[in-house]
Amino acid sequence: MFKSLFRRKTNFHYESEHELHKVLNVRDLTFFGIAAIIGGGIFSSIGQACYEGGPGVVFLFIICAVACGFAALCYAEFSSRIPVSGSAYTYAYASFGELFAWIIGWALLMEYSIGNIYIAFSWSGYFTHLLDAMNMHSPRWLITDYKTASGVSVIRGTVLNEDELSALQAWKSAPMIGSLKIIFDLPALIINVLITMLVYRGINESRKTSNAMVILKLAVIILIIVVGAFYIDIENYKPFAPKGFDGIMQGVSAVFFTYIGFDAVSTLAEESKNPQRDLPRGMFYSLIICTVLYILISLVLTGMAPYSLLKVDDPLAFVLNYKGIKWLEYIVSISAIIAMTSVLLVFQMGQPRIWMSMSRDGLLPKAFSKIHPKYKTPGFSTIVTGLVVGVPILFTDANFVLDFTSIGTIFAFILVCGGVLLLPKRDKVTGGFHMPYVNSKFIFPAIIIITILFTYYNVPNYFIGVLNLKNWDIFNLSHRLMWIALLFLSALSYKKQYSLIPMLGLTTCMYLLTGMKAENWIWFFIWFFIGLILYFAYGYRKSNLAHGK
Ligand code: ALA
Repeated sequence: MFKSLFRRKTNFHYESEHELHKVLNVRDLTFFGIAAIIGGGIFSSIGQACYEGGPGVVFLFIICAVACGFAALCYAEFSSRIPVSGSAYTYAYASFGELFAWIIGWALLMEYSIGNIYIAFSWSGYFTHLLDAMNMHSPRWLITDYKTASGVSVIRGTVLNEDELSALQAWKSAPMIGSLKIIFDLPALIINVLITMLVYRGINESRKTSNAMVILKLAVIILIIVVGAFYIDIENYKPFAPKGFDGIMQGVSAVFFTYIGFDAVSTLAEESKNPQRDLPRGMFYSLIICTVLYILISLVLTGMAPYSLLKVDDPLAFVLNYKGIKWLEYIVSISAIIAMTSVLLVFQMGQPRIWMSMSRDGLLPKAFSKIHPKYKTPGFSTIVTGLVVGVPILFTDANFVLDFTSIGTIFAFILVCGGVLLLPKRDKVTGGFHMPYVNSKFIFPAIIIITILFTYYNVPNYFIGVLNLKNWDIFNLSHRLMWIALLFLSALSYKKQYSLIPMLGLTTCMYLLTGMKAENWIWFFIWFFIGLILYFAYGYRKSNLAHGK
């Protein structure tokens, strides 16, 4: 049995009654990447990160960009070798085998579906703020999620901010059925239904809509950077990292979330005209463009207002209001709504395509890979995705899903980077992407030793805490585990002469994981075990490989 858990897939040719439309070129793929990357993160979640880290949050943007850059190179290597729709799931199937493939497919569910829950909430927040600004006030119990409202109802002794007051009003004014208060976020539900319908309808419609939205949001982000640059007050940069590096690392989930999405490009392999050449390019171009914009915008944001004021859900709109640039504030709110719509769209397209691949491999029921005869989309999977995003909107809140999404995605990136290490060498393919091979034999252990020495001399207390086995707090524990893993990887790189790029990808992603809180880990492991149970109950027995197909 043990061996069959790691059975690997080698044949990626699928017989299908209906094929997907091959219409996407490199520009479309880059636009899809940007459509997926710029959204709820930069418009919403970074407010909290700036509050915790101050202007120094820009370092976190750089660290996350480096981690995503390495991961993108690994994705590119895979997508050029295996140009089918399943993204990291398919790549894990080829390298680590079935059990890991299932786990990664399960983790990607966190990235796309759970990520979309966060974005639907943020979308609703901007939408209802905009309606409020236009004096169109909606009943609070119809625009607040239940968890937030009930959480605020028990807060005592602190001054509530505007959003919390609104949630409290929702709690007090909600109609009741028996003893149950009816409170839910209707706009978040409606946008999910509309997006599901669009994605169900077809790739061409989705492509045109997505491209138009991307141009608009890029224009607005550039406008904020240019206008905002004139309002930067250098005093706001002092101190640059008010709560030190620990404060900066508090924003890991929020900042990492802003980059999630470039990998969604790899789910569109079967709709691309030339996937081996264009998928890697689409990923790189979108990641590079977004990294530059993010670095600039984080400097503008923290330069325009003191970091201590930025703990808000709509930080970009807030700083513009703070500086009295009202005309731009409305434009930003509208474009935030558009930006988030495009992320919703791409993620809602990505998830069914992963399920489609899993189903074709027998790990999910056949219905998940059925392609709609007229619209040429994976119709059933698309509807299930709509439900998986829509139903939790009734029960959860934005913060929870944000952390959950980031931890799941970093985990997926780690498996993709690790998977590249296991790929056999291959000959150069003209037009395809090849990750440059740099022998890590000496370089990787040298990097680790230099980092240890650098940390030892600059932060002397760090290793005292990490090496003290009495410390079981999440910071020391996760750092201890990271160092054990890095020492192990150093030995492996020396012995096996692994490629340096994926090794660095693993290292940076593991570092980001050390920023996760204990409760994120607990939920992650619960999720993980549910996935394992499902695999053994269905996929393990029904897999094509189990039946010699
Ligand atoms: N990066 C995407 C966003 O920020 C998930 O909305």
